[in-house]
Amino acid sequence: MTLRSKIFLLLALTYAFLVGYLYVVWMPDATRYQVEANQRLQHRALTTLGEGLTPMVLAGQLGDLHDTLDQVRQGNPEWRAVELLDARGRRLYPLAGTPLPAAGADDVQHELVLRIGGNPAATLRVLISQAPLLAEIRAAQSRLIVALAVTTLLALALAAVMLEATVRRPVGRLAAASHALAAGQFDAPLPRAGGDEIGELVRSFADMRDEVRDSQQHLRQLAATLEDRVQQEVARNREKDHLLIQQSRLASMGEMVHNIAHQWRQPLNALGLLIHNIRDDYEYGTMTSANLRQATADAQRLLERMSHTIDDFRDFFRPDREMADFDVGAAVRDALFITEASLKNYNIEVAADIPAGVVAEGYPSQFSQALLNLLINAKEALQQRGPGGRIAVRLAAEAGRANVTVDDTAGGIPEEVLAKIFEPYFTTKEQGSGIGLYMAKMIIEKNMNGSIAASNTPAGARFVVSIPLKAAAAGAQHG
Ligand SMILES: Nc1ncnc2c1ncn2[C@@H]1O[C@H](COP(=O)(O)OP(=O)(O)O)[C@@H](O)[C@H]1O
Ligand SMILES: [Mg+2]
Repeated sequence: MTLRSKIFLLLALTYAFLVGYLYVVWMPDATRYQVEANQRLQHRALTTLGEGLTPMVLAGQLGDLHDTLDQVRQGNPEWRAVELLDARGRRLYPLAGTPLPAAGADDVQHELVLRIGGNPAATLRVLISQAPLLAEIRAAQSRLIVALAVTTLLALALAAVMLEATVRRPVGRLAAASHALAAGQFDAPLPRAGGDEIGELVRSFADMRDEVRDSQQHLRQLAATLEDRVQQEVARNREKDHLLIQQSRLASMGEMVHNIAHQWRQPLNALGLLIHNIRDDYEYGTMTSANLRQATADAQRLLERMSHTIDDFRDFFRPDREMADFDVGAAVRDALFITEASLKNYNIEVAADIPAGVVAEGYPSQFSQALLNLLINAKEALQQRGPGGRIAVRLAAEAGRANVTVDDTAGGIPEEVLAKIFEPYFTTKEQGSGIGLYMAKMIIEKNMNGSIAASNTPAGARFVVSIPLKAAAAGAQHG
């Protein structure tokens, strides 16, 4: 149903109700009041007439009486009949024998007893027709109904015109504009915004359309540059990751060189001594072929040991190609092995509780490197506080996970930096790179589906690395 027909229906219903009320309630009431008022007036006129007639009755002036009553009848055509009877019931007026007309439906009969000194002297009866009065009332009421109908029709027409001008036309244009907007057109004409509610609607529609236009433009620009930006970002990230890995590898290489130097110190000394002895033997003429053979064999053994050390380290840095089942304890021990020499150098005690047979699936070499980063950090933290200190490394299989805990006694990580230590390039050290923990986190969380967390103990920092155990073996390892 359109707005127009709704409003028409409302007005028509109001009109019908009003007319119904007028017909059923108001008009009968009004008619009755007017008829009653009229009857009271008639009665009063009759009383006055009676008062004039009484002396004539008393004096027996029948001629005057007839003249008076004839005059009255002429002046009041609605008085259909007048009858005057004396105290004994004889008719004084009209003349005896003249028949009285019968009372009609619209007639009212008044009866007035004329008294003299309290005794009835005569009775006046008048038959008055209400028909002219009723006709007049009905005519007036009809005029009212007609006036009402005309007013209502006018109101309807006016409402229609106003509705058309202030609501239907602007709303129609607004609807057309919003259809256009949905189709991506932003310049459909809008109705003029007046001060009423429709004006408010038009203004807010215009605002909304502007906003949509702006954000669409923005989106389009964004879409145009997004692809470029993503590609740039991807390239930059790849570069950054590459750099990180490079840097981290350099850091552990440094550690390795340090260790190799340490491992080689003793065989190098021995070699030096051996060479020295060969020269002495030769100079003192005590060099026999047996001596020489012994010395070259010794030198050979030392060189093999040194070469073996290099192999050990090379294995450690060989990148993992594929996921494999690996012994977590062995990987932890590998990391300890790399740092062993420098830890010993700084008198740092290592307590290792590393059970065998804890098997997980993943990249063992990467896992060792992550742990190596933790150990290097612990070592550096202890170094800052002078020689001594202790690092405890514990491995446990718990609830389907292999948990490695690294504790140190270097006083811990300040609370205010604790939340940031895993961020790339975050460091509190003058020579720090800030990638050790970031790399460790990437390896453990991204590549091994595990977790790494830092906290503080009363003595120092605690790092817990947790990775899932190999699924099939998990149950067996629990007990
Ligand atoms: N065992 C630890 N004790 C105290 N602070 C630590 C420890 N391990 C890491 N940190 C803090 O975390 C920071 C980030 O470590 P890391 O990512 O390895 O970078 P870097 O060692 O180059 O500073 C360190 O600078 C240090 O402030
Ligand atoms: Mg570090």
